[in-house]
Amino acid sequence: MTNIADQVFEYFMPVTNLMGAGAVKQIGPKAAGLGLKKALIVSDKGMHERGALDDIQKILKDSGVESVIFAGSQPNPTDENVHDGFKVYQDEKCDSIVSVGGGSSHDCGKGIGLVAGNGGHIRDFEGVNKSTKPMPPMIAINTTAGTASEITRFCIITNTETSVKMAIVDWRVTPTISVNDPVMMMTMPKGLTAATGMDALTHSVEAYMSTIATPVTDSAALMSIKLIGENLRQAVANGENFEARKNMAYAQLLGGMAFNNASLGYVHGMAHQLGGFYDLPHGVCNAILLPHVQRYNLNANPERLGDIAQALGENIEGLSVRDAADVGIEAIEKLSKDIGIPSGLSELGVKEKDFEVMAKNAMKDACSATNPCTAKLEDVIQIFKNAM
Ligand SMILES: [Fe+2]
Repeated sequence: MTNIADQVFEYFMPVTNLMGAGAVKQIGPKAAGLGLKKALIVSDKGMHERGALDDIQKILKDSGVESVIFAGSQPNPTDENVHDGFKVYQDEKCDSIVSVGGGSSHDCGKGIGLVAGNGGHIRDFEGVNKSTKPMPPMIAINTTAGTASEITRFCIITNTETSVKMAIVDWRVTPTISVNDPVMMMTMPKGLTAATGMDALTHSVEAYMSTIATPVTDSAALMSIKLIGENLRQAVANGENFEARKNMAYAQLLGGMAFNNASLGYVHGMAHQLGGFYDLPHGVCNAILLPHVQRYNLNANPERLGDIAQALGENIEGLSVRDAADVGIEAIEKLSKDIGIPSGLSELGVKEKDFEVMAKNAMKDACSATNPCTAKLEDVIQIFKNAM
């Protein structure tokens, strides 16, 4: 179903996007071409211990670009991580950022870039387009499939004072160059493959259901959903399946292209609260919430849930619009179950006493604004309850 938003459409993407096996080796000449002298490599402890960052330093060095490592990005990166990294950036007189990892490393790198370019505290940038100056050049090398943070203008940072994940949506945090090299994704463990794959599916579903979806974002979202339906189970079952890894890399990139421009919905608005309150994995929170939020969205746009069913390979021929929508939601639930996602939030230690405050914060989250229907506080609380 065509659903063209009645407003000017903006399309955001990095200037250059490198895809495919061996793509990471091209960052040296690209960095030199940007005139970079010294990059701050932003990543996490695990990547550093595995030696992955040494390889990146060598690639940069071979092209005459110096670098220094900041491996202090945590999963669900915090404002403290950002300012710790910014101190290294300043002390080492860096002129650019190279983030290596999944969404956490890229978001931490974007946060450092925002503060480096604009001054102030990272908390000043919560909301939409709060920056006034550009951030330094940034190369984002993705190792998961994925948050798509390597291409997006979204930066999610936990406020350690309030335990709220701040949604910073700012076109200036879009990295200059993104890298999706599936070879770098081959070592992702099963659980991370499943969680990040469901995050990618959530991006595409929420972008497809968004009030500001366009034919441009729809085409990316539907192809992303199709590739995820065809490849995520295989990527989880056998991480060495290169075809599945490669197709999931494309799927997550397409999901990013969709949601970076059509934005998201309540799944992300609510998942950010779970992440901030309990420090839970983003992809798992999304996966659990996704069918429950879409059941809430059923009346707003059932035709589109039928399209999602088809993209996931389901046969909806002869079904009513409503039944086809149900098939779409059930197909999402089946995929989650098949790849070992927990069935409810109670398994993750989520407590009902926190629902009211989390629901209030979810309604204020920038990602919730484009959900296809507007919920009341009690509706959001009820969705949390249904997801237990
Ligand atoms: Fe996400």
